[in-house]
Amino acid sequence: MANRSFVAVALLAVLFVGAAHASSRAPPPRKPSYSSLQDLVNKRKDLSIAKYIAEEMPDWFLKLYDNFSGTMAIPNDAAFEMYTEIWGGLEAFKDLPGRYLGYLMLYHTTFEMAAYSKDLKGTLAVDTALFGYKFTVAKTSHGVAVASPHTIARVIEADIKVGKGVAHIVDRVLIPFEPATAEFDFDPYASLGDVIKALGSVSLYGAMAASKDGQDILDSTDLVGTMALPTEEAFTAFVAEVKKTNVTGPALDYAVNMILGDHLNLARAYDSETIAGVKQAPVGWNVTAYGTPQGHYFDVEIRSDGLYLKGYTTGKVIFPDVPVGQGKFLIHLVDSVMITAQTAKALGLSATAGGR
Ligand SMILES: *[C@@H]1O[C@H](CO)[C@@H](O)[C@H](O)[C@H]1NC(C)=O
Ligand SMILES: *[C@@H]1O[C@H](CO)[C@@H](O)[C@H](O)[C@H]1NC(C)=O
Ligand SMILES: *[C@@H]1O[C@H](CO)[C@@H](O)[C@H](O)[C@H]1NC(C)=O
Repeated sequence: MANRSFVAVALLAVLFVGAAHASSRAPPPRKPSYSSLQDLVNKRKDLSIAKYIAEEMPDWFLKLYDNFSGTMAIPNDAAFEMYTEIWGGLEAFKDLPGRYLGYLMLYHTTFEMAAYSKDLKGTLAVDTALFGYKFTVAKTSHGVAVASPHTIARVIEADIKVGKGVAHIVDRVLIPFEPATAEFDFDPYASLGDVIKALGSVSLYGAMAASKDGQDILDSTDLVGTMALPTEEAFTAFVAEVKKTNVTGPALDYAVNMILGDHLNLARAYDSETIAGVKQAPVGWNVTAYGTPQGHYFDVEIRSDGLYLKGYTTGKVIFPDVPVGQGKFLIHLVDSVMITAQTAKALGLSATAGGR
């Protein structure tokens, strides 16, 4: 444990130093810049709810944001309107205890570094100003995404210079914990299908929805397990390759089903840290075969640039640990369609086509 903390601190130190260098470079020209967060929310009509929240905060709290040199994700009004619905509307939201709104504001903030979008490579777990709470930021094929335990937001406008810091406008409110009341059943990404769509893998969603079994999986809210989810780009490139083989009908259905199984572990929600600690990750429809000689698996490889799953094809985890619902099911976005060596053999795929 002590070791792990040390590594985390060392890693963060490196990131911060990197960010400090990065932010000392000149910002891109001709973008409007603002002297302070107050200046930004005052001048932008689409940030009126963020402005309201800031105005509600006590002076001592707002002092934290004086001379801002960190990074803030700011939900626009459309994002807040979606969120306030679960509280019974904007007026009810405004009546929430200031403490809750303060937590929310801190959760959207890091004071440690001014992070511009060009500095982001792969995935970054961000320690927010709300102590002990993180979110994950990643570049995906659909732009920059920010995953909090209860929402996945997209950066819809990046790199707005605010004082010495930077703000990014996002399309969802980031939610660190269950909203305090049980009356509001707040689960915007309750099903596997919701998360797959939110991560932009719409073609894979469509392919799964084509069959009754697939649709059942997409709609399920009580699955336990783990999925390696190919990006939209990876999946559409794969479909184009499959079309070239001219395989259709039951043979294709069989192959698709087997390959889909290679993306799933239906025994347990494995987070990326756990996966990184094992040699092999078992996958497939047949849970009893996990770990047996008949089982399908990927070799886990930690390379200098990230976590890889190596089989017939090899995928890099580009956005880990996205929870479905309460987190009994976890999704890891990968940059390739995943096929184990065992499936490739069963389907008679040529030995040379895959791998990396
Ligand atoms: C912000 O900067 C100004 C000018 O540099 C300084 O006078 C003021 O004390 C700073 N405020 C805080 C809270 O650090
Ligand atoms: C698939 O069909 C097309 C058109 O009929 C043909 O040109 C191509 O060679 C076929 N590909 C394979 C792998 O059989
Ligand atoms: C699942 O795997 C176990 C262990 O390898 C095997 O005995 C069983 O027949 C398999 N079930 C199916 C449905 O393939």
